[in-house]
Amino acid sequence: MHLFTEPQFQAQAQQYSAVLSSRGVQVNLEIIEKLNARFLRFHPELALCVDELGLWLCANGMKMQPDWKAEVPRLKRASLKSEMIARACNLGEKPRLIDATAGLGHDSLLMAHLGAEVTLLERHPILFTLLEDSKNNAEHDPFLSSVVARIDLIFSDSADYLSQQAEQHKTVDVVYLDPMFPQRDQNQQAIKKQAQVKKQMQLLHMLLPEDGEMDLGDNLLILAQKLAKRVVVKRPRLAVYLANQQPNHQWQGDACRFDAYFQYHLIE
Ligand SMILES: C[S@@+](CC[C@H](N)C(=O)[O-])C[C@H]1O[C@@H](n2cnc3c(N)ncnc32)[C@H](O)[C@@H]1O
Repeated sequence: MHLFTEPQFQAQAQQYSAVLSSRGVQVNLEIIEKLNARFLRFHPELALCVDELGLWLCANGMKMQPDWKAEVPRLKRASLKSEMIARACNLGEKPRLIDATAGLGHDSLLMAHLGAEVTLLERHPILFTLLEDSKNNAEHDPFLSSVVARIDLIFSDSADYLSQQAEQHKTVDVVYLDPMFPQRDQNQQAIKKQAQVKKQMQLLHMLLPEDGEMDLGDNLLILAQKLAKRVVVKRPRLAVYLANQQPNHQWQGDACRFDAYFQYHLIE
C-alpha cells in the first residue's frame, strides 16, 4: 500500500511506516510536493497519507481518520438517559467493559464518556494504527483526556483475547460486540441511509471488504458468554441474531438495535 506525504512530514511518515511494518503492513513511502484534494482525486485506490494531523486512510478523493475530537459535541449532548447503548450496557453502574470490535472506536468513546472502563480490541493493523493515533491526539485534548484515560487500546484478535481471559478465569461486567454485517442483507431503509453516509464509513468498508468470507463474529458471542455477565450485540434493526441465539432482552432503535445476553451464573 502507498503512504503519501509532503517533504516536511517525512520523518513522521517514516515512523508510521516502521510501526505499520512491525504489525505486518509494508508501505511504499512516496514523498510528493502537495498532498491536496486534487492529488487525492487522481489517486483513487486505497492508500495512507500523513500530514500535520497525523495518519489518514484515503481513496477516491476522500480521506478519513477515526477523529475522536470531532465526536466531542456528540459526547457533550449524550446522557445515561438519552442513549440506548447506556441502558443496554448498564453504563450507570460504571462497568468494566470489553469492546471486542473497535472499528472507529466511536461507541467506546461514548461508553467511556458515560462511565465505562473500556478495553478496546481491534485486529486490523491499519485500523488499529489509526485508532492509536486518535487516542494519542485525544490525550492532549482538555475534554477528551479524562475520557480516553478510561480506554485501554489493544491490538489483538478478540477471539484470542477472550479465550485467554476465560482460560485465566477472569470475568468482566460487559462484552460489547458490533461485528461487520453484510450491507446487502440489511433492510432497504438502512441501505439508503448507508448510501449517504459519511466518507468515514465508505473508506472503512473499502479497508474491510465484504466479499469472500466475511467474518460475521458468531464465534465472539459464544466466547464472550464465558466471561461476561452481560454480552451486548449491536445489530442493524432487522438483522438476524448473532450466532442465531435469541437474546434475553432487546432495545430497538430506528436504525439499529441492541441484543443483550445475560449469564446468570456469573451475576452474583
Ligand atoms: C462495524 S465495526 C465496529 C464499529 C464500532 N462499533 C464503532 O463505533 O466505530 C467492526 C470492527 O470490528 C473489527 N473486528 C471484527 N472481528 C474482530 C475480531 N475477531 N477481533 C478484533 N476485531 C474485530 C473489524 O476489524 C472492524 O473494525
